[in-house]
Amino acid sequence: MSKEHASAFMINEIHEQPGLLSEIIDHNMGSTLTQLQLLKSELSTERLNSFENVLILGMGTSLHAGMVAKLWFERIAKVKSESDNSSEFKDRNPIINKNTLAISISQSGETADTLSAIKTAKEMGATVLNISNSENSTSNKLADYNLPINAGEERSIAATKSFTCSLLQLYILAIKMGNARKSLNQEESNKMVDELKDLPRLIDEVLKIESQIEQLAEQYYAYKNFLYLGRNLNYPIALEGALKLKEVSYIHAEGYPSGELKHGPLALIDSQMATTVIMPKDSMFVKNLNIVKEIKSKGGKVISITSNQTEAGSNKDDDTIYIPDTSELISPVLTCIPLQLFSYFTAIKLGRNVDKPRNLSKSVTVE
Ligand code: F6R
Repeated sequence: MSKEHASAFMINEIHEQPGLLSEIIDHNMGSTLTQLQLLKSELSTERLNSFENVLILGMGTSLHAGMVAKLWFERIAKVKSESDNSSEFKDRNPIINKNTLAISISQSGETADTLSAIKTAKEMGATVLNISNSENSTSNKLADYNLPINAGEERSIAATKSFTCSLLQLYILAIKMGNARKSLNQEESNKMVDELKDLPRLIDEVLKIESQIEQLAEQYYAYKNFLYLGRNLNYPIALEGALKLKEVSYIHAEGYPSGELKHGPLALIDSQMATTVIMPKDSMFVKNLNIVKEIKSKGGKVISITSNQTEAGSNKDDDTIYIPDTSELISPVLTCIPLQLFSYFTAIKLGRNVDKPRNLSKSVTVE
């Protein structure tokens, strides 16, 4: 890696992820998932069991973590869940009450829209659990309960390590809630915990192929437009991949659920449009493969992110990034890594100020 690369906070923060995730896992495994590290006071098993619904709030990358978590809470804890953009939430007359667990996510803990959303949720009687990377943040003070992201200081404006650490904290919380609500049996939660323990190693595997991703950035940096597609748990990752690329490289990029392609965005496809399809070997792989075929039939260029090493997964003339196979549930924590690296290398190639993109600041303290 060149000196220029090594000096960027963003790449160092991307590389810190396996170590940080290991620490979070070790911390929680030490207490066999029964006691999450909550700063103010413990959200008891009884309390976790008492909520009728979960509402997750955040902006930008924090919202994308919340969108993944919404699906985890539904699937793992079998609790009605929704996620919303903090600034939209306040203006939509939400239907929540004292049986709602509102989870606010904010790396900085100072995002004005999220602070207002916390206040609104509290006024409406919800219990608010805030997930933040700063212990003394305003959001922590406003909320009833706090859960630290534990990512260490994040100096690059583009969030990377705080995203995966938030995801992990939310995943562990979903398992804890699943245990409390008895939607998970012991065997299932043991299996999920075992898979989690392997996650840092799998992320390391992806980091080992960064030179391949750098080459792809070399190939694609001159494209002016990108689509990012993913399904279900990987739809928020498509949004996050597109956000990361536009933030640090200033290339126009949009994320969509793969199934939405034919409902409009397909008209954009031609040889000048690059599409990144997130298609791990999961129950949606074949549907994603059909989308890839559709894009190619219209002359579009495809980068696929897949864990399917079979012929079907190799997509011959496409550019494929192979990632290790993992369970469908935790795949978003892995599929986001090549997208972070691709954004970083593309921005470097374009000579952007990666750690300090124009017009952006680390914490948005006005609505
Ligand atoms: C993206 C990014 C922003 C933040 C958003 C929320 O890389 O950094 O989209 O995620 O401004 O910030 P926090 O999490 O501090 O509330």
